[in-house]
Amino acid sequence: MCGIVGYIGSREPKNILLDGLKNLEYRGYDSAGIALKNNNQVQVIRGLGRISCLEEKINNMDVIKANMGIAHTRWATHGEPNEANAHPHTSGMVTLVHNGIIENFSEIKEKLIKTGVVFKSDTDSEVLAALINYYYDNDPVLAIEKAIKDVKGSYALGIIFADQDKLFAVRKDLPLIIGYGEKEFFIASDISAIIKYTNKYSLLDENEIAVLDFDGIVVTKAGKKIEKEILVTDLKAEDREKNGYEHYMLKEIMEEPIVLEKTLKPFIDDFFKIPDLSDYEEIHIVACGSAMYAGMVGKTLLEENSNIRVMCEVASEYRYKKVLYDRKTIVIVISQSGETADTIAAMRKAKENGVETLAIVNVKGSTIARESDKQIYIEAGPEIAVATTKAYILQVAVMALLACRVANESKIVDELKKLPRLLREVIDRRDIYLKIAKDIYKRDDIFFIGRKIDYAISLEGSLKLKEISYIHSEAYQAGELKHGTISLIDKGTPVFAIITDEDIMDKTISNVCEVKARGAKVIVVSNVENDVGDYLILVPKVSSFLQSILVVPCLQLIAYEVAKLKGCDIDKPKNLAKSVTVE
Ligand code: F6R
Repeated sequence: MCGIVGYIGSREPKNILLDGLKNLEYRGYDSAGIALKNNNQVQVIRGLGRISCLEEKINNMDVIKANMGIAHTRWATHGEPNEANAHPHTSGMVTLVHNGIIENFSEIKEKLIKTGVVFKSDTDSEVLAALINYYYDNDPVLAIEKAIKDVKGSYALGIIFADQDKLFAVRKDLPLIIGYGEKEFFIASDISAIIKYTNKYSLLDENEIAVLDFDGIVVTKAGKKIEKEILVTDLKAEDREKNGYEHYMLKEIMEEPIVLEKTLKPFIDDFFKIPDLSDYEEIHIVACGSAMYAGMVGKTLLEENSNIRVMCEVASEYRYKKVLYDRKTIVIVISQSGETADTIAAMRKAKENGVETLAIVNVKGSTIARESDKQIYIEAGPEIAVATTKAYILQVAVMALLACRVANESKIVDELKKLPRLLREVIDRRDIYLKIAKDIYKRDDIFFIGRKIDYAISLEGSLKLKEISYIHSEAYQAGELKHGTISLIDKGTPVFAIITDEDIMDKTISNVCEVKARGAKVIVVSNVENDVGDYLILVPKVSSFLQSILVVPCLQLIAYEVAKLKGCDIDKPKNLAKSVTVE
């Protein structure tokens, strides 16, 4: 979380930095700031709230004429979101922006206080600035090297020294890239921040220090010069535009058929390109949030269609729990960003235990993409709305392909070809989603029920609704509700019932009757015509491997309409950030 961008070159940095921050705002948006520097002056401007607030502040004040700068958008970890805690932080000669967490910051802070340092914020980042300043004696690289030796934790840093006409960057456990333009150079949390100016970049490796000046970039590690590979991204600035949609979330849902087709294509062309997991005795699927719920769909499909033991676990638990690797095991990690801290740690745990890892990932060049043994890329393109939609659908699609391969279901290819068209039909029925949203958006509690794969779908439906509309919602295995939670069902309480698994359909219908008898308003999402609910959303019936791909978009669109009716900030829900790079 938190976004960093930095610039050195002949252009005025202010607008380049603000522009970069706007593209990184999905990483955190509680406060923001920039530091501008010319030959002998550093000016720091910070503001609470969105980048637009910072921009307004900057436009209404005198700003120095500068030729380099660093900028930051924050998702608070240490210290509440306020102006004092916003980045950049200055201590003596050093001004920096920081993404990450310094775990031993209080220890270092105490030591620095004894040397006379006075701190102005509650952040670990200011401590880092003070530590670098403490070691600074005209050799910036040495000061950075000494400081990072003392700290425990994660960091991506952009640093300015008041008496140096250079920009410095270093990272550990969090992403940071360096970008190459025409006589201008950049640092950024990801390429989206600078795509308007260059498509050439290099990935900084752990503890490599990049020194950017007006002529180029030199990267060193422990005093040794490193030759960096220059990569070229195919991302275009226009891929990040809203294209006339009111929200990124809606745009991204509407893109689902296109990105689905793109992701499936290589496997439609050659079914046997799908990795075959049938030799494994155990599969662990590990991820966070929606990616984990996509994994749960996968777990159900793999279990139902093979004799392999499958475990699906939240990464933040998996990384710390006792895990037996006593059978031939593969660990599948699922991550849109490829930078989720807990998922990275879970993947590393598997690797340390000599277990093979397969990543289902969107962002090429991300930590998970680079460190996993094998990768299947989803072709979602940039996903900007904080709540995932198209990436989730593609994660589910890939899990379904893996299950089909294990089950030798090569005839699925015919259905795969039709799937994007059917998905388009589902997402085009916005009138029914709006009608249901209007009926439920004023309620305080909304429940989702389903069994087996329909329960996995319910979890995602419930998460989507609560995270963007702030309505309390829970998902239950349909048979479990009567063991306590049914006491919350009152007259008119909305209950979504997902009923697609034919084997267990009658059982779920009985559970629907139970909640209806207590006054619930039931919205059934099913692939079979029925009249058990107050509403029926009928989706086209497809193979059980693929069915969830046609159900979840209905729930995404209802969540979207509910949040819109409630006037919520749909693309940037409160307290959240897109890329969760802290544990
Ligand atoms: C919810 C959502 C999150 C992410 C989770 C994992 O809408 O987007 O739950 O799915 O934070 O993120 P990635 O996939 O980037 O690892």
